[in-house]
Amino acid sequence: MTRSGVSRSGESVAELPGLEAPVLGPTGRPFTEFAEPAPLKGVGPARIISLCNQKGGVGKTTTTINLGAALAKYGRRVLAVDFDPQGALSAGLGVQTHDAVTIYDLLLGVVKDPHEAIIKTEVENLDIIPANIDLSAAEVHLVNEVAREQILASVLRKVSGEYDVILVDCQPSLGLLTVNALTASHGVIIPLECEFFALRGVALLVETIDKVRDRLNPALELDAILATMFDSRTLHSREVLQRVVEAFGDRVLETVIGRTVKFPDASVAGKPIIEFAPEHPASKAYRTVARELISRGAVA
Ligand SMILES: Nc1ncnc2c1ncn2[C@@H]1O[C@H](COP(=O)(O)OP(=O)(O)O)[C@@H](O)[C@H]1O
Ligand SMILES: [Mg+2]
Repeated sequence: MTRSGVSRSGESVAELPGLEAPVLGPTGRPFTEFAEPAPLKGVGPARIISLCNQKGGVGKTTTTINLGAALAKYGRRVLAVDFDPQGALSAGLGVQTHDAVTIYDLLLGVVKDPHEAIIKTEVENLDIIPANIDLSAAEVHLVNEVAREQILASVLRKVSGEYDVILVDCQPSLGLLTVNALTASHGVIIPLECEFFALRGVALLVETIDKVRDRLNPALELDAILATMFDSRTLHSREVLQRVVEAFGDRVLETVIGRTVKFPDASVAGKPIIEFAPEHPASKAYRTVARELISRGAVA
């Protein structure tokens, strides 16, 4: 190719609307424009997806909030389930939890009807089942229950017809709660921070997913790996991403999420970044993730 050809293609990439240069082609695949999703005719049954990684701080909660909000904006009915006693998802969506009926009450059967726990967020089409620190006692309480791994599945079954997608924001562990999330799910998305040691622990996570598929939930699929906190300016970020692509191939989403301080700002505001700063590159990136997942069939 001629020099001008190279530069022309470089420019066309940089000028594509809605995408900053850093989100383009970092996985080494040709850039695809994911179509604006068509509206759905009816609602449900929901595809249930767990956001899972036993490492903390990789973007599980941020992805649940912003992917949830992006899908809601595309007219999908979304239920986000806070499945971490830290309650960051609830806080990030502006929900007070100290008096709330939470996922803990549903797991223990203190409250039988999930509708009593569901709260509408400020984002139309996006609801949440909150959590608070009570949830940290759940594993101890559930350990002697019959079919203890299937309790979340039975809770979500009751509302699955009312949503197109249910996103479960897991806690950073591979304990009984996470096994419950995987058992309830059709798919898993693993957010990976583009940092040293990103892949450390992922083998164990994949092993856990495989075990749950073998023993409890034969239909469970690894839907996607989402690279987060990507910094295209550093060789390091690019190398980590390359390593991730070598390990997981096409399961790595083409869309990656850049590192930006807007996320902590949005958390403080108790809103998705998509609401807080809709034109920010990170908002565009999460909308692209939503379209990519829809185009892959991971979401209706
Ligand atoms: N792409 C990003 N760039 C910069 N900071 C981010 C990004 N994604 C998340 N964060 C911040 O990193 C911290 C951890 O993210 P979070 O989504 O809570 O991770 P997890 O749920 O996996 O523990 C939060 O303070 C969040 O605001
Ligand atoms: Mg979290």
